Amino acid sequence: MRFRTKQIHAGVTPDPTTGSILTPIHQSTTFVQSSIDDYMATGYSYSRSANPTVRAWEEKITVLEDGDDAAAFATGMAAINAVFLTFLNAGDHAVVSDVVYGGTYRLATTVFSRFGVEFSFINTADPDAVAAAVRDDTRLILTETPANPTLKYTDIAAVSEIANAHGIPHAVDNTFLTPYYQRPFELGADLSIHSTTKYLDGHNATVGGSVVSATAELHEQVAYIQNATGAIMSPQVAWLTLQGVKTLSERMDRQSDNALQIAQFLEAHPKVTSVQYPGLESFPQHDLATRQASGYGAMIWFEVVGGVTAGKRLMDALDLWALAENLGSVESLVTHPVTMTHADVDRAERARVGITDSMVRLSVGLEDVVDLIEDLSQALERA
Ligand SMILES: Cc1ncc(COP(=O)(O)O)c(C=O)c1O
Repeated sequence: MRFRTKQIHAGVTPDPTTGSILTPIHQSTTFVQSSIDDYMATGYSYSRSANPTVRAWEEKITVLEDGDDAAAFATGMAAINAVFLTFLNAGDHAVVSDVVYGGTYRLATTVFSRFGVEFSFINTADPDAVAAAVRDDTRLILTETPANPTLKYTDIAAVSEIANAHGIPHAVDNTFLTPYYQRPFELGADLSIHSTTKYLDGHNATVGGSVVSATAELHEQVAYIQNATGAIMSPQVAWLTLQGVKTLSERMDRQSDNALQIAQFLEAHPKVTSVQYPGLESFPQHDLATRQASGYGAMIWFEVVGGVTAGKRLMDALDLWALAENLGSVESLVTHPVTMTHADVDRAERARVGITDSMVRLSVGLEDVVDLIEDLSQALERA
């Protein structure tokens, strides 16, 4: 089956008792057993350990990533937390991309650091820097590509080669491009992490996360932590995500197409001093973005004449674009990373990795691109 067919049919079959074409929401804590001797005959006992609706989502995302199996979580952060808990013990070291979602940075630097885990935030766009950062006690490499919010790309194949040579798992946060555009396992990665909150759901309806593993052995370890710590995806969220993902390819293609047109508009606008979109030839890693993924996604960032003050005026002046955290949904959103998604990354670190105070981040939605551009145009006039 091809991707567009899989996103609709994988992991789901009509309900055997009613014929319901949509997987039912199995809103049940427990599953009645026929006898002690036949315990778990249905495969289900208690919804923290496994739930049929959540399982349908896990099977679907596994097929979409071409992985071995997947574990679904309450949020993307719960998924990343589970990866840290699976592979890192007290005294271990991990290499993490220097540009990551602010919550990932916060989890590493303020929570796992309390347990003696050490993190090196490395420019993973440079494979030599990754190789140099690996130590005897390194137990995990986590890359986010493209990264939130600067859109820096990591060469997944090059970093996977380094990880494999050292026998360290390479986990890729694939939230921004999803398996529709970027295929970590074909490039040698071991785990693919998602905030399903973003493109996979795509409708601003849920928060959720998933970890897809390339092998049964890795999945078994992640699934153990999923059950032991209990930050599971709920059946309601799994059901909504199962519906949202059916149009993933159509949404992503149209949103990316909108994004390219908006990036070109911004690039030509006299009030815009810099615009970054992987699909623009001016994007510093345009070649890697083109080689590594089949699409450029729908995230853009830019800066305007007048810096922070003008950027804030612009964000306030937008009508159609909602000033809100989140990305990847059908509604277009504008975000100020420094006050919103990356507020917990300390100022010096932000400056070091290029997260500027004047950065305006756009998550381009599915609206008519003419309306989106008209709104940006009037706001730029008032910035
Ligand atoms: C790349 C990336 N990974 C992980 C997360 C965390 O996901 P969640 O908000 O679902 O916990 C986010 C959230 O913005 C993100 O952008």
